[in-house]
Amino acid sequence: MILVESPKHLAAYAGCAFVPTMGALHQGHASLVKRARESGKPTVVSIFVNPTQFGPTEDLDRYPRTLDADLALLESLGTAAAYCPPIDALYPEGIAASMQVASALALPAVATEPRLEDLCRPSHFAGVALVVGRLFDQVRPASAYFGEKDYQQLRLVEDFVATERERFGALEIVRCPTLRESDGLAMSSRNRFLSAPSRAAALALSRALRATHMAFRPADAERMMRDELTKSGLAIEYAVVRDANTLLEVQTFEAPTRVLIAARCEAVRLIDNVAMPARDPTKSKCPFAALFGFAAPSE
Ligand code: PAJ
Repeated sequence: MILVESPKHLAAYAGCAFVPTMGALHQGHASLVKRARESGKPTVVSIFVNPTQFGPTEDLDRYPRTLDADLALLESLGTAAAYCPPIDALYPEGIAASMQVASALALPAVATEPRLEDLCRPSHFAGVALVVGRLFDQVRPASAYFGEKDYQQLRLVEDFVATERERFGALEIVRCPTLRESDGLAMSSRNRFLSAPSRAAALALSRALRATHMAFRPADAERMMRDELTKSGLAIEYAVVRDANTLLEVQTFEAPTRVLIAARCEAVRLIDNVAMPARDPTKSKCPFAALFGFAAPSE
């Protein structure tokens, strides 16, 4: 594996399979790298803790940095190159000026209208769009791999690339499923900050998401999630059912939806989500009824 620090040395990797990360790598990141490797193209992974996507009160300084272990993991996965740029390789104008550039970006509606991460972390997606765009410009990949774990981010990147085709060419954004611990907790670089009691309480997120499969209406699902999260002492930022594409509010399960949660477990902010397939209201109120051993109620 080659360690690349200057964008000048990326030319050889144009057309690669690219996985952007902020390091502190875990098996969730590894699953993206494995997926990228399956493309048969050389795989490039970036490690860059992006200052423009952290708010002034967020955990930029505390964000875990484990570069040696990250590089060892990437090497073992058959990565062709790890791109670890210094800050000025991405932000030659300096961080303050680049924050201004970020705030002037026209973001897709999915990053500004749903009032989910966009509301809780107001400047976050501008920083993500800025860095992802600049990374794509430098790496020139044929495909880039993003986790469904950060579902609103994934939708932002999909729409951002679709609206800037001239800039990004035929770049394909590949969705990768969320990797979980065996007890259901979604893997995250921030899980290491959970105390033992918080780690146990954090299971309420995946439990709440699973429970929504029993709900007949989005409003019922949202109530079930709030109950489950509150019972475990978590501070809810949102626990909602949204249209899987726009992430706007829905009243029924008739189109594909996404169930999304953000909650604080002591000082640690956790997010998770699952897909809810569309249900045909004329056939059954609960498509999962058979799984739970009871018949769907008749109309
Ligand atoms: P980071 O949090 O390091 O995540 C890098 C990629 O790994 C993202 O696409 C994220 O969705 C994915 N990922 C994280 N946990 C996962 C899990 N449990 N299962 C599957 N995929 C998972 O997301 C970022 O960095 C940054 O915002 C970035 C896109 C690199 C821009 O700075």
